[in-house]
Amino acid sequence: MKRVAIITSSDTGYRGEREDLSGPTIKEIVEKEGYEVVSMEILPDERETLAARMAEIADLGLAELLLTTGGTGFSPRDVMPEATEDIIERKVPGIPEAMRAYSLTITKRAMLSRAAAGIRRQTLIINLPGSPKAVRESLEYIIGALGHGIEIMTGEAGNCAENNSGKNNNGKKVR
Ligand code: MTE
Repeated sequence: MKRVAIITSSDTGYRGEREDLSGPTIKEIVEKEGYEVVSMEILPDERETLAARMAEIADLGLAELLLTTGGTGFSPRDVMPEATEDIIERKVPGIPEAMRAYSLTITKRAMLSRAAAGIRRQTLIINLPGSPKAVRESLEYIIGALGHGIEIMTGEAGNCAENNSGKNNNGKKVR
């Protein structure tokens, strides 16, 4: 079973002044897809703290998927993309591009999320925006494609060039 770690970046959540509804929303969505949630934590919006914990999860091999929520906007305290970029070894721009492309069909404000994604060792790290609504819209759109990527990352699946069931540029079959 693929393991998921969840980090909520929120000063008010960390201080116990606001209930975190976004972490539990992630948990609900990933569990429905058959992932196992191994940790859920709320951290302050501090670049070094966030980066250190994300690196630790990857370096200790605690989860194949690390999903974060919050800290992707324009507030001076929103530093989750910077913290993520500090510690990833390889960028995965297509995932945030896909989230924003789909989310723009729902709200123009989707362009205000600076979410990033990347790989460190055998952990795929993806930033999601902060609100439960934005988490649901973004994560439900991408989740179906993640398993295949994780299997290639961990070496469980081979190169998909030989066996590409998604095919298509001509409108036939896209998974
Ligand atoms: N994406 C989706 N799908 N739905 C949303 O409602 N809200 C946007 C954006 N992405 C939104 C969304 C808004 S209003 C902001 S400010 C940014 O995400 C950043 O959110 P964050 O600072 O909480 O991470």
